[in-house]
Amino acid sequence: MKDQIINLKNEAVGEILEAKSLEELEKIRINFLGRSGKINSLIKEISQLPAEEKKAIGRLINDTKKTIEESLQQTQESLKIKESKTEWLDITAPGSRPAEGHLHLVSEAISEITAIFSQLGFHRARYPEVEWDWYAFEGLNMAENHPARDEWETFFIENLENEKYGKGILTPHTSSGQLREMEKYAPPLRMLNIAKCYRRQSDMSHAPMFYQFEGLVVDKDINISHLKGTIDYFTKQYFGPDRKSRIRPFHFQFTEPSFEVDVTCLICHGKARLPNGQVCRTCKEGWMELGGSGMVHPTVLKNGGIDPEKYSGFAFGWGVERVLMMKYGINDIRLLFEGDLRFLRQF
Ligand code: FA5
Repeated sequence: MKDQIINLKNEAVGEILEAKSLEELEKIRINFLGRSGKINSLIKEISQLPAEEKKAIGRLINDTKKTIEESLQQTQESLKIKESKTEWLDITAPGSRPAEGHLHLVSEAISEITAIFSQLGFHRARYPEVEWDWYAFEGLNMAENHPARDEWETFFIENLENEKYGKGILTPHTSSGQLREMEKYAPPLRMLNIAKCYRRQSDMSHAPMFYQFEGLVVDKDINISHLKGTIDYFTKQYFGPDRKSRIRPFHFQFTEPSFEVDVTCLICHGKARLPNGQVCRTCKEGWMELGGSGMVHPTVLKNGGIDPEKYSGFAFGWGVERVLMMKYGINDIRLLFEGDLRFLRQF
């Protein structure tokens, strides 16, 4: 009977190792360990054995049963893992794309603006956001207490003052880069300064922190037609070939003459009226303001160490968020700072 038990054990373990599925394994379990299985039939035979063999055979059967149970359990675990990993492959099915982001609209606009002006030979400059009064005001022909300064509702930095350059401020416009560029390089200059600016303003079209891009060209015989040509080029490249630009007389202390620049409205295309005859509510007059510009004031050239008798120049300063809003018809600047994915995913 001992041999019979050992053979049974080998048979069971062999079958278990060969099992290809959990279903097959269950059949093996029933065949060996089930109520009318092979182990129980052996147990029934113990009663017919001589008394002195009963104990040893009983122990052998128990050990065999344990071995079968253990190998059943091991195989069951590996089959479970195997069956859960059953692969299904349809190579014609479309793949699932991983979620893909893109640069923020403002960063995209900065790259686009930089690329457009680089085609005209402008180099990208970056000048400090924490600036001295001299570069933002005094050196730009706005003496201390000059009323023109009020336009730039400026943040002053406490306890930051320099004997030569005055108070420390958060730069309210990129025009502060004009003098820094003149100090750094000799003409001819073609600078594009894009930087964060700060003003104490906050509503649908004004943010306390916003980006401006500032162009400065200084060379011999630069005149207004160069300025107008540059504005037209930018308008067509950035907004599209059907948009037009115009310059309107204005006043800035650091340019003379000075202009405001307008671009035709994207909704009514400069007509001020919609096809149904109603007034265009986006612009009301057919044009939207882009920003300031003008011919560099001789005092500013002098302050930058450039002889105004020999050189002349033009400059412009426009808001990055503002041009973006005018391109896509965005009506609230705050949408550009909130990081709301429902808004950003539309672009
Ligand atoms: C200036 O800042 C002048 N430095 C522009 C300039 C440069 C004139 C060179 C002449 C020569 P202004 O304050 O108008 O001008 O601002 C220019 C543009 O910056 C505005 O038209 C607008 O597009 C943007 N801007 C100004 N303030 C804000 C603000 N709080 N939030 C968002 N954009 C603003």
